[in-house]
Amino acid sequence: MDKFVIRGGNPLLGTIRVSGAKNAALPAMAAAILTDEPIILENIPQVRDIETTRKLLAAMGAEVELGYGRAQHRTTICCRSLTSPEASYELVKQMRASSLVLGPLVARCGRARVSLPGGCAIGARPIDLHVKGLERLGATITQEHGYIEASADRLRGAEIVFDKITVTGTEDLLMAATLADGETMLQNCAREPEVADLADLLNKMGARIEGAGTSTIRIKGVSRLRGAKHRIIPDRIEAGTFVIAGALTGGDLNVVGCDPSHLTVVLQKLAEVGVRTASAGDSVRVIGDGALKSADIDTEEYPGFPTDMQAQYMALVTQADGASMVTENIFENRFMHAQELVRMGANIKIEGHRAIVKGKTPLSAAAVLASDLRASASLVLAALVADGETIIDRVYHIDRGYEHIEEKLRGVGAQIRRIGEIFPKKAVPTAVRA
Ligand code: EPZ
Repeated sequence: MDKFVIRGGNPLLGTIRVSGAKNAALPAMAAAILTDEPIILENIPQVRDIETTRKLLAAMGAEVELGYGRAQHRTTICCRSLTSPEASYELVKQMRASSLVLGPLVARCGRARVSLPGGCAIGARPIDLHVKGLERLGATITQEHGYIEASADRLRGAEIVFDKITVTGTEDLLMAATLADGETMLQNCAREPEVADLADLLNKMGARIEGAGTSTIRIKGVSRLRGAKHRIIPDRIEAGTFVIAGALTGGDLNVVGCDPSHLTVVLQKLAEVGVRTASAGDSVRVIGDGALKSADIDTEEYPGFPTDMQAQYMALVTQADGASMVTENIFENRFMHAQELVRMGANIKIEGHRAIVKGKTPLSAAAVLASDLRASASLVLAALVADGETIIDRVYHIDRGYEHIEEKLRGVGAQIRRIGEIFPKKAVPTAVRA
């Protein structure tokens, strides 16, 4: 398994580019199921979850072409004929977001067989709200042998109020409702920019959606959707991770190709901690010259402080004077990185879904273990300021959601290298015709 070796101490200087958003690309690729015409997606990040989604769609009978060379961030998907509307356990266990195909398959094919995701490092993460919503749209759903079996001649519009705000739940039902008979109203929806980006693509495909990005979305069902071309929004979590890298290392970094308006709450909180940033156009400049001071966060649904930035923020406040309370409200087990940061010298006490981080404590290099995508990002950040050479194991987690992060960080002065079986950059992506 690949590892990162990082020697800390270098300020990050220069320009670092943000890739397309993984969490916008995954639902957009699932949306291709809704039409028999080609969907062309641009700004697709080259991360492992995209490759898993390619396999998922190809196994159903879709033609999926991941671009390479100059077109490496473009993907063309055509679901002309889907021979097997199924998402196997083998693929779903690698990526829970595979459940995003459930709604589109029932809507387009009238049936779907999708493996239940099973447990996850950061929490139980059931998909009961996806199932409940599909049943309200008229689907018949059974569960056996670890699979959900769903069927419907044609889904029917309905009113659905989510018991809890769910990002992929909103996206899954939004896609299903586009081909339903009649109007659907979704309430208590997720307002993440990735949801609005998906609705943007679906409307280009001929859907009739209003209100995406707010907590109430209306969808007038249509009988058919067409092909479209769409550019995926930038990855706000990758951008936020790089801004913290610049602040932590005392660097001067220009994070480009992002949308600062998607980072408002994060930049506001960083200002409270004493991080100087300046946003302009598609970039955020961070100047890490000030002393950092403690500040509390509570993770919330968008536009609140994102849970996907919690681990990176925790790494930052280990270097802030005072005690910061980090409260995780979205997932019940998202502090796996804390003990690894403690191994590097951080002072962190966990009390239920709260972590008390006392700083500033110098960090020293150690061998640490990544447990999930964002936890691995926080360990990379800590290693950038630790004294000595840190070895981070199981970096396959970070490859799921960060495109060639070691090359990007090396490009602005970080001493980072990957050891072990090199992630076969040249092997993936190649033009793949299923
Ligand atoms: C999305 O996951 C993101 N993934 C996650 O990013 C992100 O952490 C999460 O939203 C919250 O922002 C993608 O978009 C692919 P939820 P999702 O459904 O949709 C509970 C990353 O690091 N819930 O909004 O799976 C659930 O257990 C990943 O990129 C139910 O109880 O999250 C959680 O406590 C990690 N029943 C809460 O709701 C359901 O049917 C929010 O989860 C669905 C969710």
